[in-house]
Amino acid sequence: MKIGFVGGTGPAGIGLAEQFAAAGHNVLVGSRTPERAARARETVLATIPATSVTAMTNDDAVQQADVVFLTVPFDAQRPTVEGIADKLDGKIVVSIANPLRVANKRAVFEPPSAGSLAEEIAMIAPGARIVGALHEIRVSRFADLSHEIHSDTIVTGDDDEAKRIVMDLCHQIRGVRAIDGGSLSNTRYVEGFVTVLVAINFRYKAGVSYRITGLKD
Ligand SMILES: NC(=O)c1ccc[n+]([C@@H]2O[C@H](COP(=O)([O-])OP(=O)(O)OC[C@H]3O[C@@H](n4cnc5c(N)ncnc54)[C@H](OP(=O)(O)O)[C@@H]3O)[C@@H](O)[C@H]2O)c1
Repeated sequence: MKIGFVGGTGPAGIGLAEQFAAAGHNVLVGSRTPERAARARETVLATIPATSVTAMTNDDAVQQADVVFLTVPFDAQRPTVEGIADKLDGKIVVSIANPLRVANKRAVFEPPSAGSLAEEIAMIAPGARIVGALHEIRVSRFADLSHEIHSDTIVTGDDDEAKRIVMDLCHQIRGVRAIDGGSLSNTRYVEGFVTVLVAINFRYKAGVSYRITGLKD
């Protein structure tokens, strides 16, 4: 599968690129500037050599990808999607961002009027197949391929096939289990709950995530 990253040059994009390159996918590292994309590609290849990783502009990554991960800062997501909306028709687009501002050891949830960042981009790019995933996992953990992540991720969306494909991809991230969390409108609760995880992290000086229990095998 061709997996593209918009803003693939930060910790989230690079870490996920490493995970998906290791799983055998073709990774397309997008950036606003080709030089940064090329540097990020070198970083991924230094960790996972001899894999298919290509550097390109965000536009090209969107055009060529089967699945597009948005890995820009949360407050850049809306303008970024507005700039590429016409290219997202029919694409599976994964929103991982959380609208949180962290200051003085406290996270404040600042959702857009649409309810969540994922629902906001569904309004901007109505032809895209939006899925919410990976909100609850610290991005720094994706890049550490020597350790399993040991976390569930609640995956949300209104397009069942797109959600299933993204859940399959999440299962390919070492130690991540994807749980179907229902419709895209539930993303607001997943994004918002990360506020609580951040509070726990400050309180316990930790990097927590969560597991859903009680599921049948
Ligand atoms: N912190 C966590 O543990 C956590 C957990 C789950 C999800 N997330 C989400 O993961 C996402 C990415 O995190 P990150 O730390 O990798 O982000 P980041 O390093 O701050 O940004 C990633 C890339 O986005 C591009 N970018 C930066 N500002 C931009 C702007 N104003 N407009 C367009 N592109 C811009 C840059 O790429 P170029 O300059 O190369 O274009 C940058 O390298 C965030 O939305 C965050 O909410 C974070």
